[in-house]
Amino acid sequence: MGRTKLAVAAAVAAAGVWTWSCTQAAPPDPESEGAKLFVANCAACHGQDAGGLKAPNLRTGLDTDYVAATVTDGKGEGMPGFAGTLSPEQIHTLAEYIHSIGSAGD
Ligand code: HEC
Repeated sequence: MGRTKLAVAAAVAAAGVWTWSCTQAAPPDPESEGAKLFVANCAACHGQDAGGLKAPNLRTGLDTDYVAATVTDGKGEGMPGFAGTLSPEQIHTLAEYIHSIGSAGD
């Protein structure tokens, strides 16, 4: 009997933790290569969680190819191109990361 109660309590606690972490704005896996590249190269303008700072929110389900093209060539006045700074592989990793955080929950 006591054991069942404990299991239920643990499940409720786990669900609580899960809900809590999902409402946090942090990237899903801060240790991933994409997250590290993002923090190093993009967070100063787009925010640590890509939710926007002096540059727009990127958590909007952006298309991977669109992100890669924008990062490579830059955009508008404020978005620098990274073709000379990051390798195509790094840009691809970043684009997948941004796509993944935008469509989290799909
Ligand atoms: C110096 C500031 C700055 C840095 C650094 C920067 N961005 Fe941007 N970014 C901007 C600005 C400003 C815009 C809006 C440009 C416009 O629409 O005219 C933008 C736009 C974008 C867009 C288009 C968003 C949309 O909804 O169309 C993407 C994607 C993007 N940035 C990704 C990145 C990534 C990935 C990095 C890191 C490799 C990065 N940016 C680094 C300033 C920056």
